[in-house]
Amino acid sequence: MGFQKPPGTQDILPGQSAKWQRVEAIARELCRRFGFGEIRTPVFETTELYQRGVGETTDIVEKEMYTFIDRGERSVTLRPEGTAGVVRAYVENKLYGEPDISKLYYMGPMFRYERAQAGRYRQFHQFGVEALGSTDPSLDAEVIALGYTFYTEVGLSGVRVELNSVGTPEIRAAFREELLAFLRPKRELLCQDCQARMERNPLRVLDCKKDQHHFEGAPSILDSLDEACTAHFEQVKAHLDAMNIPYVVNPRMVRGLDYYTHTAFEYKAEGIGAIDTIGGGGRYNGLVADVGGPDQPGVGLGLGLERTLLLLEKQGATPPEPQIDIYLVALGEAAEREVTRLLHELRLRGLAGERDYLGRKMKAQMKSADRLRARYTAILGDDELAKGEIALKHMASGEQQTVRLTELADRLTTPNIERNE
Ligand code: HAM
Repeated sequence: MGFQKPPGTQDILPGQSAKWQRVEAIARELCRRFGFGEIRTPVFETTELYQRGVGETTDIVEKEMYTFIDRGERSVTLRPEGTAGVVRAYVENKLYGEPDISKLYYMGPMFRYERAQAGRYRQFHQFGVEALGSTDPSLDAEVIALGYTFYTEVGLSGVRVELNSVGTPEIRAAFREELLAFLRPKRELLCQDCQARMERNPLRVLDCKKDQHHFEGAPSILDSLDEACTAHFEQVKAHLDAMNIPYVVNPRMVRGLDYYTHTAFEYKAEGIGAIDTIGGGGRYNGLVADVGGPDQPGVGLGLGLERTLLLLEKQGATPPEPQIDIYLVALGEAAEREVTRLLHELRLRGLAGERDYLGRKMKAQMKSADRLRARYTAILGDDELAKGEIALKHMASGEQQTVRLTELADRLTTPNIERNE
């Protein structure tokens, strides 16, 4: 009799892990371009951090945390999400004292004791980003754009962005009463979950899929926002428009965590059974102070990697292989040495380049260039070498040109060379 993995966990085997690595590589590369640096925090934290950070009345804290007393008699919890730990690290390491805002990203396992089903696990993985230290609405839009771009670049289609503003805690408290007055008379008509949830968290009731037809004429939180919240929301939308990021406003969308203020958003897509949310996030201007730090605002997101990969599979798509800039082909012994020199020069200049190491014929080398998805191939024969030239081929268009050897690196690194493949 052997052992089995605990329910809700997965073994990620070779083949599958290669897809994970590609998705993770795309996330890291995206963060580099958007200016987010990696933060690695512990997989477990003091239980109280999540009670205060995530919120006492959330499903996560009420019934999903892996909490235990360690041998030092401390209550610790396996992280159910990434934001609270990042905020704790931001405060503890006084990152708020730095001149610039903190743009941080993370990837790794999270733990929630949930009922396992397609797309829902007890150990799952998130790619998340948190930007701390600014209330600028362009930052909310940037985070939303980063998530949207991630889904596009891994190869998913049909991802929708739903956007809402949940205002401030004061606005929500007032809205809660207004909403309860609307919901109470309908109580008996609503599903079990909604009935149980109504007094504790009526805003989440509005988000119920089954009961939408009972909510016609329900008050909208967007009508309860004050001037400052409305202005912020309008600005976020304007910045999204400027980047051409599509979104729909959904005034009934609320997130499952308590810390959000102002902007809340979710990424949705069909294809994983009953689950349609594949990522989400929002602004949390009170959280840093709630866990004992200075009054610093933040905004971030968390994207589920299992759901991303499940959906890719469902859509018959695979995350794209990483690309290289150039594949160098040498024909002849003198050309070989020049290719060695040239490739090293290109690599020092920041380009990703490859060559043949198996003494293969030109045709096999060109196939290898294709497999590596090289943007360019350059062929150097002894004739070209004598003239100080090299033949450069743009793979996507098939366009060829002859370039001076001394100018190749410049040609590949200057932005005006055609790079819109
Ligand atoms: P969340 O909505 O709780 O937000 O989780 C984000 C994503 O993690 C979900 O959309 C889903 O893709 C994935 N996820 C959550 N639970 C599971 C599960 N049991 N199995 C598989 N995937 C799951 C947060 O966690 C926030 N920390 C996001 C955030 C960051 N907000 C601001 N900054």
